[in-house]
Amino acid sequence: MSNISIIGLGNMARTIAARAVAGGNAVEVVGRDAVRAETLAEALGGGVTAGQFGTAPAGDIVILAVPHDNAAPVVAQYGPALAGKVIIDITNAFDSDATGLTTADGTSIAQEVARVAPADAHVVKAFNTVFGSALAQGRPLDVLVAGDDAQAKATVAAFITSLGLRPLDTGSLDMARWLEETGVVMMGLGRHGVGNFDFTLGVVTSA
Ligand SMILES: NC(=O)c1ccc[n+]([C@@H]2O[C@H](COP(=O)([O-])OP(=O)(O)OC[C@H]3O[C@@H](n4cnc5c(N)ncnc54)[C@H](OP(=O)(O)O)[C@@H]3O)[C@@H](O)[C@H]2O)c1
Repeated sequence: MSNISIIGLGNMARTIAARAVAGGNAVEVVGRDAVRAETLAEALGGGVTAGQFGTAPAGDIVILAVPHDNAAPVVAQYGPALAGKVIIDITNAFDSDATGLTTADGTSIAQEVARVAPADAHVVKAFNTVFGSALAQGRPLDVLVAGDDAQAKATVAAFITSLGLRPLDTGSLDMARWLEETGVVMMGLGRHGVGNFDFTLGVVTSA
């Protein structure tokens, strides 16, 4: 069982929280609007609590379920309150028509988050290649992960597994750039080859 806090009260926050509750995890939801956070916690049930935005999260794992341009600012705003936490960045930095990224070449939102996070926090990229609509259906999916700290990735992998999903490590946090680019590929697939957003990318091995 993991202790997780989710910052954000939107689509992905709700979807991940629901799967996390079903997987037996302790879940806290946190939003700028305390009343809406409380309402969401009650709707989720399963002992979900509402945390206070900007104060130390209850979870050992903190999921950033906010728009990409707010991810690093939120982490900077929290400052030392995130010391020692494993921070999961799920964001996609799509440009206005989701055919490219807003980040400069050679970096990623996850790396920008890591730059402003406390020195002893560990940032892991995960879930950005999973559409919320596919996640909500409860099927087993592959979740691509990137991060620099092996223990933090093991912690995140255990959490992902508890959701009935398969974590797949892609390497160091530098790989977050390519995971964010993969998000753009998925938007292209949704609009063209697949024709809807009820799918995910997965890995098939021959043995
Ligand atoms: N939707 C998907 O299928 C999907 C898939 C993979 C990854 N993602 C990524 O997941 C993230 C969330 O997506 P979503 O679909 O859940 O978006 P959403 O439904 O629009 O929810 C975004 C949430 O972020 C909150 N928020 C915004 N700025 C904030 C701030 N400065 N501090 C605290 N909370 C803030 C919003 O709160 P307010 O209501 O107070 O504004 C809202 O609750 C995005 O980065 C997206 O790229 C989405």
